[in-house]
Amino acid sequence: MDWGMKNRLTKIIRPETGRTVMLAVDHGYFLGPTTGLEDPGKTVQPLMPYADTLMLTRGVLRACVNPDVNVPIVLRVSGGTSILGNLADEGTTVSMRDALRLNVSGVALSIFVGSELERKTLLALADLINEAQEFGVPVLAVTAVGKDMVRDARYLGLACRIAAELGAHIVKTYYCDDFEKVVRNCPVPIVIAGGKKIPEREALELSYNAISRGAVGVDMGRNIFQSEHPVAMIRTVREIVHADLKPDKAWDMFNTLAAEKEGAFA
Ligand code: R5P
Repeated sequence: MDWGMKNRLTKIIRPETGRTVMLAVDHGYFLGPTTGLEDPGKTVQPLMPYADTLMLTRGVLRACVNPDVNVPIVLRVSGGTSILGNLADEGTTVSMRDALRLNVSGVALSIFVGSELERKTLLALADLINEAQEFGVPVLAVTAVGKDMVRDARYLGLACRIAAELGAHIVKTYYCDDFEKVVRNCPVPIVIAGGKKIPEREALELSYNAISRGAVGVDMGRNIFQSEHPVAMIRTVREIVHADLKPDKAWDMFNTLAAEKEGAFA
């Protein structure tokens, strides 16, 4: 692996722990206005000190994030569809040249294994990897799950393994029962998405379960920025990811941080 690729990977997965807290705020690329991301710049500003990486689109990066920030960027480079259409019909939306101009540490693209457009999305991943290899840019493959797919270890294991076989450097997937099987069968690091907003305690447990079963981190969005206490949430998730904080302790930490914040405004 060349120096540039290795260097960029260390910006995404922290070498001190081999783990990462990625903050995902790319939802607008297919959901449009998303609760909590009405003003993405304002949302991410207090969270960035606790994020190892920010995952977002070119448009939001350019319009809402000040270039003096010190957080590595993983740029979503797939899109072109919305929740009103066929999501699997995505294409590549950003050239590698522009991604490099934006000084990204990685690029991300979704694959839709099992959809009628499976082949198209998998070959788009392969093309992106071929191009990214030339410039030493890591590729994060996102295993998107269609409405009719079951989020179980068999399906997610299949999708993750195929992404890794095509050469993805990191794979993002969902947590599921028997998650360790998904990890065992995937030769590259896995991060988990948080999914729809759930109660904070459950999201913290989800994070812990994923890490303790082999994920190298989270690429989490709604369960952080839609929380009433987003800073408390990301700080606690960070302790789980980088310091293996157990769920009970994590819940105490979250409540303490949330109460401190409330106190500050009392
Ligand atoms: C989906 O593919 C989007 O790229 C999100 O980044 C991803 O789902 C992670 O966000 P959340 O934790 O809200 O699911």
